[in-house]
Amino acid sequence: MNDILKSSQGLRTVIFDVSKIGDFLWKAGWAERNAGNITVRVDEFVDQEPRDLADYPLFTLNEFYPELNDAYFLVTGTGKRMRDLARDPLKNAALIKIISAGSEYRIICENQQGVCDFRPTSELPTHLAIHRLIAKRKSEEKIIIHTHPTELIAMTQIAELSDEHKFNSLLYGMHPETILVIPDGVGLVKYETPGTQHIALQTVDKFKDHAVVVWEKHGCFAIGRDLEETFDLIDVLVKSAKIFFQVKSAGYHPEGLRTEQLLDLKRAYGID
Ligand code: 13P
Ligand code: ZN
Repeated sequence: MNDILKSSQGLRTVIFDVSKIGDFLWKAGWAERNAGNITVRVDEFVDQEPRDLADYPLFTLNEFYPELNDAYFLVTGTGKRMRDLARDPLKNAALIKIISAGSEYRIICENQQGVCDFRPTSELPTHLAIHRLIAKRKSEEKIIIHTHPTELIAMTQIAELSDEHKFNSLLYGMHPETILVIPDGVGLVKYETPGTQHIALQTVDKFKDHAVVVWEKHGCFAIGRDLEETFDLIDVLVKSAKIFFQVKSAGYHPEGLRTEQLLDLKRAYGID
């Protein structure tokens, strides 16, 4: 694994950026214990196929991903901490290659004894389902970040905000930046057991129309072309949520931006 990474400047940059995002997520307070995971499609940077690919550990996927056959992903490991990813990305993330017409994958990793004890994030079904959607529609996103932003999760604990439209209206009303950065709003997925195919399907359905999807009482996923930009999507939403809770905790009811103000903003910045 290290050899492949060292051979490619592109992969070294991805590793560096992933570790930087791990640091941001930890410092933002969204990454308690092993919370959160990141995957990046990196085919374009793998310019040297691993030698003896067949020697690397092989795993069967629970679902078929034919559109992802031969794709390489950098994936964070299950149980790994974001703060450790920041310090030592090569011990907390690894490359996987999807093979066998999208039904299996190999983990390209080994420790000094030649053993690979790394396992990809438990949210791999959702990550792969989203990467498959991206491949099918041929859009340019490569990055998927899952994290646990406290204020967004807190909003999903408020029954009146369980409606997607109300949830988005509230976020838009708290800060003008929000509608400009996330013009399509966020998709809301009702609580489901994480790590399952079921939640993966619900999530991918929402990604057809949104760049950020919030999992009720759990966290959120965001997709993008660039790691920092993808982080920013979540950061902007969290800013709005924080303003909401600060006004509430000061004992006031937040006024929010008016519909005409939001429409003016969209017009001014050419968003339809
Ligand atoms: P992993 O440690 O398996 O990535 O899980 C973290 C998480 O946030 C699950 O939703
Ligand atoms: Zn999670």
